[in-house]
Amino acid sequence: TIVRLLGASALCIGFVTSALAADKVDDAALRTAAGDYFEVIPSAVPAVKGNAVTHEKVELGKMLFFEPRISSSALISCNTCHNLGMGGDDNLETSIGHGWQKGPRNSPTVFNAVFNIAQFWDGRAADLKAQAKGPVQAGVEMASTPDRVVTTLKSMPEYIEHFKKAFPGEADPVTFDNMAKAIEAFEATLITPSSRFDQFLEGNDVILSDQEKQGLALFMDSGCASCHNGVNVGGNGYYPFGVVEKPGSDILPANDKGRFAVTHTADDDYVFRAGPLRNIELTAPYFHTGKVWDLEQAVGIMATSQLGTELDEKSISAIAAFLRTLTGEEPRIVYPILPVSTHATPKPVA
Ligand code: HEM
Ligand code: HEM
Repeated sequence: TIVRLLGASALCIGFVTSALAADKVDDAALRTAAGDYFEVIPSAVPAVKGNAVTHEKVELGKMLFFEPRISSSALISCNTCHNLGMGGDDNLETSIGHGWQKGPRNSPTVFNAVFNIAQFWDGRAADLKAQAKGPVQAGVEMASTPDRVVTTLKSMPEYIEHFKKAFPGEADPVTFDNMAKAIEAFEATLITPSSRFDQFLEGNDVILSDQEKQGLALFMDSGCASCHNGVNVGGNGYYPFGVVEKPGSDILPANDKGRFAVTHTADDDYVFRAGPLRNIELTAPYFHTGKVWDLEQAVGIMATSQLGTELDEKSISAIAAFLRTLTGEEPRIVYPILPVSTHATPKPVA
C-alpha cells in the first residue's frame, strides 16, 4: 500500500506545483482528474441489499431512531449520539451513553453511512442493519437487550400496527431483527446531495473559489485522495493510522488497535477505516478519539502521519477550504410523534 501511495503522489506532483504557481486552476483538467477519484453523490435514496426501502419501513425506522425507550433508561435514542440537526453526530470527543458513561470512540455521522464499505471506525459491522443491533445492547450506549426492546415495542399497539404495515405478511413482525431493518431503511434516506463539490463535478466552474480548487488539486496530488476517494471521499478502505509516523498517544492511544480487534492479524494493528469526509465541517471533533477540534489541524496531522509531508499554512488552508465544500443538503426531518407508553411498557432503569 505504501509503495502504491508514494507512487501515486509522486506521479501527480506536477499538477499541484503548476496550480499553486499560477494561483489559477484549469477547471476542465481539474474536473477530469477529480472524476478519476470521486463520484457525485446520488440524489435519490439508494437500494439496500435484502431490505426494500418502503415508505412504511422508513416511517417506522424514523420513529425507532428517535425512540428513547429502546434504551433501558428510556432516555437515550440513536439521535442522542447521531443528532440529525447537528451533522448526524454528537460533536463530543467520545460519546456519552447509559449512566453518563463515556464511550471509547467518537461518534461518526450517520449521514451517507449507507455508502460506506462497512460500519464503525474499524468496519466491524457489515452493514447498517448489523450495526443498529450494537448500540442498543452496548452497556456504555443504550444498555438494553433484544427481549426488553421487543417487550417495549409490543406494549404499544401503535408500534404493532406500524411493524405490521412495514413487514406485511409476517406472522410476528415485531422482532429485534425487523427493528434493525426499519432503522437501516430510514438511515438509507439520510443522504446529503448537491454539495458545492458535487456541483463542480457536474460542470459548474464558478461554484468553487480558486482557493477551494487549489485545495482539491492538492488533496489529489499530495496523496490524500489515494485513501479518501469514492462517493464518500473515504469510508471505503482500511489503512494504518500513522502509515509514515504515528501521531502522539493523545490522538492515537495504544489501547485501541482498531481493526486488529476484528481480524486479529498483526498487519491490522492501528488500522482504521479512512474517514468518510463528506460534511466534515459539521462533525468536529476529529479522528476516532475525537481529540482534534480544528479541521486545519486534522489536515496537518494527516499530512505528517499518512504522507510524511509537512504542508505549509497556505496548502493546509486550501485543503481545509476544499473539505468545507463537501457539505451537502441535509435531510429535513419531521420529528415523529411516538406512541404513548402503556402499563405493560417496561419502566426505565437507571
Ligand atoms: C457508530 C447508528 C446509537 C455512538 C454508528 C454508526 C452508525 C450508527 C450507522 C457507524 C457509522 C460509520 O461507521 O460511519 C446508530 C443507530 C443507533 C445508534 C441506528 C440507535 C439504534 C448510538 C448511541 C450512541 C452511539 C446511543 C452513544 C451513546 C456511536 C459511536 C460509534 C457509532 C461512538 C462509533 C463506534 C465505533 O466505531 O466503535 N452508529 N447509532 N450510537 N455510534 Fe451509533
Ligand atoms: C481520517 C483528511 C490522507 C487515512 C481523516 C480525517 C480527516 C482526513 C479530516 C478525520 C475524519 C473524521 O474524524 O471524521 C485527510 C487529508 C489527507 C489525508 C486532508 C491528506 C493530507 C490520508 C491518507 C490515508 C488516510 C494518505 C491512508 C494512508 C485515514 C484514516 C483515518 C483518516 C485511516 C481515520 C483515522 C482515525 O482512526 O481516526 N483524514 N487525510 N488519510 N484518514 Fe485521512
